[in-house]
Amino acid sequence: MSSNFTDKTVLVTGGAGFIGSHLVRLLLSPACGAKVINLDALTYAGNLESLQDVEKHPNYRFVKADISVADEVRKVFEDHSIDWVAHLAAESHVDRSILSASVFVTSNVLGTQNLLDCAREFEVQRFLHVSTDEVYGSLGSEGAFHETTPLAPNSPYSASKASSDLLVRAAFHTHGAPVVTTRCSNNYGPYQFPEKLIPLMISNALQDKALPVYGDGKNVRDWLHVEDHAQALATVLAGGKAGEVYNIGGNCERENLTVVKLLLQALGKSEDLIQFVKDRPGHDRRYAIDAGKIRDELGWEPSWNLERGLAETIRWYQDSQDWVERVKSGAYREYYATQYGDRLA
Ligand code: NAD
Ligand code: TYD
Repeated sequence: MSSNFTDKTVLVTGGAGFIGSHLVRLLLSPACGAKVINLDALTYAGNLESLQDVEKHPNYRFVKADISVADEVRKVFEDHSIDWVAHLAAESHVDRSILSASVFVTSNVLGTQNLLDCAREFEVQRFLHVSTDEVYGSLGSEGAFHETTPLAPNSPYSASKASSDLLVRAAFHTHGAPVVTTRCSNNYGPYQFPEKLIPLMISNALQDKALPVYGDGKNVRDWLHVEDHAQALATVLAGGKAGEVYNIGGNCERENLTVVKLLLQALGKSEDLIQFVKDRPGHDRRYAIDAGKIRDELGWEPSWNLERGLAETIRWYQDSQDWVERVKSGAYREYYATQYGDRLA
């Protein structure tokens, strides 16, 4: 993989988010050796404290910009000579999309089109669009999503992601854009914002607070360690075929209740902390991924199993109480002004 990235400048959108921060770190590592421009609007989900270890890397630049504002996107392309794009910036939390959907349309749909427009104008050579298995909708008790499974999104979040997937597809068919789309299952690991299932449950359990399980807890998700995902994204960026879609999965399907009980067991906490709460409206029952295409064509497979992944994730959250506390208190939002203040207008 390494030689593919040499001398490449990669624009990572959403690099201050959970998955983006891992991809930025991987692309900067000696294994890849890319130059990275991290474009992020720093919404509530953007946290530059997750990238403190690489912020002084000579090949790294951070640019605060909003992908839904065409002029801001254009300026980034004008100021930097960008070879490849890895597009991860998005509103990403289903529960928030149920409460208020419009920002999901603005960022995920309009933002993606703004990037596609600039990628075309500035002749970007590769454009990786990071999507989700949620665009396929919900499965019954059998089967798995294939790349050819029809799109049937059920939440405002997944509908906005599916819309962006269709714009990416259209850019390929209309303009011959060098786009590749990935659709992955639920990620977990270090630096995940504690509103998603696994970090929320760890964080609550550590404080002996109730663990809110939606509905009967029997919804099934496939869990993908974020480092496996970052490796898969770099693999697709380096070798994916234009116009194609690649599913990325962790081979770790579990009911939510099973995951929550595994976490409690590993933390030595009582299952009495589990509290069944009102179900999420339109809650998809089951996701499962067939990731045979990326394995057969590009040689990627997940390397983490869930037990090891959860144990190491728990350890990270236990060792990173400061990071968690600064997220919960909102202090992390001041980091940009203190570290990058001299670049503010
Ligand atoms: P995240 O919410 O942790 O991070 C998203 C990042 O995008 C944040 O840094 C935020 O500041 C930035 N952002 C949001 N709107 C923006 C805008 N208008 N302009 C510029 N930046 C903006 O998300 P994540 O979990 O890291 O997910 C990254 C991508 O992967 C998303 O596209 C998401 O749909 C997809 N995905 C995530 C998962 C998962 O389990 N987390 C699963 C499948 C797909
Ligand atoms: P989440 O982490 O929000 O990811 P997604 O909705 O994108 O799959 O939720 C994962 C699963 O956990 C999902 O079935 C909803 C459930 N869940 C709970 O039961 N309780 C919670 O507090 C949260 C946040 C999620």
